[in-house]
Amino acid sequence: MLMTLNDIHLTLPANNGDVPILRGISLSLPRAKAIAIVGPSGSGKTSLLMICAGLLRATKGSVCLEGTDITHVEEDGLATLRRDNMGVVFQDFHLIPTMTALENVSIPLELARIDGAEARARSLLSDVGLPHRFDHYPSQLSGGEQQRVAIARALSMQPKLILADEPTGNLDQETGRAIMDLLFERVRAQGATLVLITHDPLLAKACDAQIHIQDGKVVAV
Ligand SMILES: Nc1ncnc2c1ncn2[C@@H]1O[C@H](COP(=O)(O)OP(=O)(O)OP(=O)(O)O)[C@@H](O)[C@H]1O
Ligand SMILES: [Mg+2]
Repeated sequence: MLMTLNDIHLTLPANNGDVPILRGISLSLPRAKAIAIVGPSGSGKTSLLMICAGLLRATKGSVCLEGTDITHVEEDGLATLRRDNMGVVFQDFHLIPTMTALENVSIPLELARIDGAEARARSLLSDVGLPHRFDHYPSQLSGGEQQRVAIARALSMQPKLILADEPTGNLDQETGRAIMDLLFERVRAQGATLVLITHDPLLAKACDAQIHIQDGKVVAV
């Protein structure tokens, strides 16, 4: 298995006491598969994805990456694990506004001291259909173009795991479809596993498996 979650609980403090967000989730994410996470708003999908990414720590339970327990790895170690193994795509793109498209894609490569970072970033941006937008800042790009940049960035380190949280939620239907085609195609080309949070039943169906979350629990797979 690429990643396993074992009995994950997440409890967060709120004004009137602790709130259980995730209540005992166990999951196995196989290699080279697309897995949809579906469920009502507030059911805990984003929280679950953030735990997979190591951006949020579970209150209880464990996370294993390729058989290694990473539950108690400290922040710096998690950042390195994330950089080398994962790409994250958000609904609202999360590009760095002061960097051009090319810089947004090359920065993870440069931080990892990869040779030829800029050439690789150019090639990735061309792959996502933006060979003519290298020097544009995020504010000078359409939503669909920004998401293409975010996908190129997420793929830049050739991660085994792509975590995408409603990546087409802010795009019109036609643009969203083109972005999803691109994401599926790139993920398949790299042999990566895609975890896709989506409210779109057609997109969920296009995945190899669906995990239904309700009230912080898996109710069906
Ligand atoms: N920092 C926080 N502190 C307290 N509660 C939180 C925090 N973040 C999220 N929650 C609560 O956790 C629950 C799950 O949130 P989460 O964002 O994971 O849901 P979701 O399934 O992604 O919903 P949506 O489909 O609307 O994106 C919600 O009830 C939310 O209010
Ligand atoms: Mg969410």
